[in-house]
Amino acid sequence: MTQTILRQMRKNSGIPLKAIARELGIDPGFLSRVERGLVNAPQYIVDKYQEYFGHAFNDHSPASEPTSLREHSAEYHIIQYALPFDEAPQECTEIDLVNTPQTDLDVPPELYLSPNPRLGDLANPATPPKPVAVPYSSNISAGKNTYVYDAHTYHTKVPPQGIGLLIDYYTRPGDVVLDPFCGSGMTGVAATERGRRAILSDLSPAAAFIAYNLTTPIAATRYLDAIESMLKAARPLEHRLYDTHCRTCGRSIPMLYMVWSYGMLCPHCKQEFVLWDVARDERPRVRESKIKTEFDCPHCGEHLKKRELEKTQRYPVQVGYKCCGSGMKEETAHPDEHDLKLLAEIEQHGVPANLWYPTDPFPPGINTKQPISAGITSVDKAYTPRALWAMAYLWDMALRWPDAEVRPKLLFTLTSLYKRVTVFSEFRFWGGSGNTANFNVPAVMNEQNVFKALARKANTISWYFANAPQVPRQLRVSVQSACHLPQIPDKSIDYVFTDPPFGGNINYSEMNFLWESWLRVHTDNTEEAIVNKVQGKSISDYQRLLTDAFSEVRRVLKDDGWLTVVFHNSSARVWDALQNAIVDAGFAIEGTQIFDKRHGTFKQFVSKNAVGYNLVLHCRKSQREQALERNGHQEACRQAVAFIRSELGKAAKQYTVHYLHVAREDEFDYRRLYAAWLADALPRMQIGLSFEEFRALVDQQLPTVLAPQTEEFIPGERSGINGDDVRI
Ligand SMILES: C[S@@+](CC[C@H](N)C(=O)[O-])C[C@H]1O[C@@H](n2cnc3c(N)ncnc32)[C@H](O)[C@@H]1O
Ligand SMILES: [Zn+2]
Ligand SMILES: [Zn+2]
Repeated sequence: MTQTILRQMRKNSGIPLKAIARELGIDPGFLSRVERGLVNAPQYIVDKYQEYFGHAFNDHSPASEPTSLREHSAEYHIIQYALPFDEAPQECTEIDLVNTPQTDLDVPPELYLSPNPRLGDLANPATPPKPVAVPYSSNISAGKNTYVYDAHTYHTKVPPQGIGLLIDYYTRPGDVVLDPFCGSGMTGVAATERGRRAILSDLSPAAAFIAYNLTTPIAATRYLDAIESMLKAARPLEHRLYDTHCRTCGRSIPMLYMVWSYGMLCPHCKQEFVLWDVARDERPRVRESKIKTEFDCPHCGEHLKKRELEKTQRYPVQVGYKCCGSGMKEETAHPDEHDLKLLAEIEQHGVPANLWYPTDPFPPGINTKQPISAGITSVDKAYTPRALWAMAYLWDMALRWPDAEVRPKLLFTLTSLYKRVTVFSEFRFWGGSGNTANFNVPAVMNEQNVFKALARKANTISWYFANAPQVPRQLRVSVQSACHLPQIPDKSIDYVFTDPPFGGNINYSEMNFLWESWLRVHTDNTEEAIVNKVQGKSISDYQRLLTDAFSEVRRVLKDDGWLTVVFHNSSARVWDALQNAIVDAGFAIEGTQIFDKRHGTFKQFVSKNAVGYNLVLHCRKSQREQALERNGHQEACRQAVAFIRSELGKAAKQYTVHYLHVAREDEFDYRRLYAAWLADALPRMQIGLSFEEFRALVDQQLPTVLAPQTEEFIPGERSGINGDDVRI
């Protein structure tokens, strides 16, 4: 590993070398040699750096030194907010928390978690848009690992630097940019940072809430002051809920996490065993450790497959903590009597009656099916009793925070924890957690200390705040369907950038349900533009909703203004729906290119995930009735084959995935070639070929097009790429 990366990571965080050396319990001189690459970096140092700084690591040096929680010395005003296990939180004497929780989260005129009556305020029908004759045609490639990208998760995001290039190209400062499927608001971030006015809207209140908070960064110090005060006030409760005994010195310290494993029933002997005990495969390198998917029954010896077993109940199997271990090394231990007694006490006590938490039943859905059938039928059941208590307590404190500008940021920090602090958080030997758009119930779960998770996320968010340009921002955020934007006058928008849902890839209203339960307002999914069996929405419903949305965009967009749509899918029918919607709404696709969502430098070291390619479609109002070439399947194949042969003939190298820093062989990049084919074909013809069909054509052509030097790409041998992977 390039060890200067370690140094860069630490520097970005603003933490001096000495401090981190002290934290790790090692000699600063040694650490400095590690950072300079003079000695090999021990794995635990790499892991620690990733844990401390990885999520906020950026390719670019920050403009200003970010403030870190560790260094920041706040004055604490709250001492005691609620005593643990006391029924009524004691009114705090030294800080005036507002008496009643401020559950109305609107921030007029910028944010409404309903249709924003002021949405049209910023629109400007008076002036013509910037004259732009030809679509943006340079490459767009933007990394995912930026401060803003990491600050709050969302199921799909478009990196704002990429959007920024387009905003610079299509608009002037002061112009109005609209994103009617705004999601987490990356369009708003890119637009407002550049002095453009941003109008954002989404069907989902959670999306609007996240979009608003990401688009309105506050001073990092002010934010951290509040977070620190909050955590300090919560410390007694943290101890009460999470204390464990150091197995070495006996001291009581809050655990970092507890691992829970399901018990499983052997279908042969009908006896139960704890998966963790039987299937754990721990290796010296944590990244190689795993839970085995096949193993023998400890009772009868039959060979079993994990996915075929029936789950019984969850058992606590490990606690993790840091105390006196050398270098503050993390220690793990079996839960002892004290830990089990504590769990029982918490369960019996339950969340104090004066604290509110959501109990919304999960609605029937594609992604909610799994939790519901595992007995996780409502949002409160998605938390352990301990995590629910911690969340309810922190949520209440945030809702009663006296500074109205900071309050939404505290709530937003709590929503940023999302699935990490629920029972959907899968245990990984190397720490961290994934963010996949489902509510799968993992067999081995990581119950994180909510307070510690909050502190970590707050650090990441503060890095974004510290680095966000301090500029005045003009912004409106609304919750409504893109199919109806009546507050926005005709021909009053200069530019539209948007990425609508990609067919049935992600069920937004289901995946946002957890957040929205805390926000006490849910998505009205009547017009949710997705393909979803449970909602009874077919591809043609999806196409109709997209057509309505693009028609509305056409109405509000100035005549010479541009619409950019980002999209990807591996199904020909979904492409068909998108193309028809664009054309039927009265737009013509005038240019296309690939949006290369790169992983940044650091993630390439450790991540085996392939990069993703989205398509960028540049559209303008069409002057006359447009029709796309509609080819039969044979003709589509013929054209695709011609494209494949010509592309590989001239640029085969471009289509190799080369894994620089992980031990993995080069692979042929079918996705990139499919994306290139889409970019070429979309403006003129109906796509007609799914990724699978296209890949089969590539496999046919590869051996004959490529000279011997690339014969390692003989199809089928190491594809490692399958159709399912092809989500952006
Ligand atoms: C691909 S995401 C947008 C992500 C966004 N570009 C970002 O960077 O976070 C699509 C969004 O469309 C929203 N959506 C679905 N149907 C909608 C509709 N009819 N009107 C408005 N928004 C809708 C979903 O809630 C989701 O947030
Ligand atoms: Zn058995
Ligand atoms: Zn100790």
